[in-house]
Amino acid sequence: MSILENFNLHGQVAVVTGAGRGLGRAIALAFAQAGADVVCSARTLADVEAVAGEIRALGRRALAISCDVTDADQRQALVDAAVEGMGRITHLVNNAGGAGPNDPLKMSAEEFAAVLSFNVTSAYSLTQLCVPHMRSAGGGNVINITSGAARYIQPHFSAYGAAKAALTQLTKLLAQDFAPLIRINAIAPGPVLTTALKNAAPDAMLTAMAENTPLKRIGQPDDIAAAALYLATPASSWVTGKVIEVDGGAESSVWPG
Ligand SMILES: NC(=O)c1ccc[n+]([C@@H]2O[C@H](COP(=O)([O-])OP(=O)(O)OC[C@H]3O[C@@H](n4cnc5c(N)ncnc54)[C@H](OP(=O)(O)O)[C@@H]3O)[C@@H](O)[C@H]2O)c1
Repeated sequence: MSILENFNLHGQVAVVTGAGRGLGRAIALAFAQAGADVVCSARTLADVEAVAGEIRALGRRALAISCDVTDADQRQALVDAAVEGMGRITHLVNNAGGAGPNDPLKMSAEEFAAVLSFNVTSAYSLTQLCVPHMRSAGGGNVINITSGAARYIQPHFSAYGAAKAALTQLTKLLAQDFAPLIRINAIAPGPVLTTALKNAAPDAMLTAMAENTPLKRIGQPDDIAAAALYLATPASSWVTGKVIEVDGGAESSVWPG
């Protein structure tokens, strides 16, 4: 058997949050190309409908579900709709998340908690909701999208950095809870050219980020999707509780102090 046969997702059903654009869209399309049926979710239904259309054009089944991952009822409705529409859930990608820089003298405790809720609690809760379905399906796989910001020591990122560091540790801890039937891993991207990064960083900063990266470029969404494909497929069947750093080799950020 060719080792390439391990990189396939035929018969699998993946739920991807934040799948309307950026990393989530690239991961959803990569999974479909590898044979998975995909439940695409984000708040903007038109965006996920468009991605679902691209997946159907690849010959796979797709559902488009509007879901704000910070809302408990909507998380439950997403999982219910996925099971009803697809019959099973085998994969979950907790991709929706993010936050801009913060001033720790100005960001309130409530705003800080909201960053944790968006990046950490949503992933915890969706994992909790999906695991019973993964067990029913005979096994499962969770991928959390954390960030290089979880380990970079830099000013202005006490909220986002702490939240992504918590998501990293959550990944390692839940992997212990749910092994051996379910594998849980994370990807820590460096700067990747998506709407989120373009909105946050002016062109001069993008240039500085590329220059600060040993591989001398900003990442593309498919750089992350390729890592997700490895973690989702049997190719990584002996990997759980780990974080893959996909960042062009960058070990620091260039956000101005
Ligand atoms: N791009 C980077 O450089 C980079 C680096 C490290 C880590 N990351 C992480 O990668 C993930 C994806 O980022 P991205 O750059 O791909 O962002 P993006 O291009 O802005 O896409 C974000 C996606 O998430 C959805 N979304 C936003 N808020 C949501 C919510 N409350 N509930 C559900 N979906 C929501 C958006 O659609 P709606 O607005 O319609 O909901 C969109 O589909 C994030 O967790 C981010 O922290 C990104």
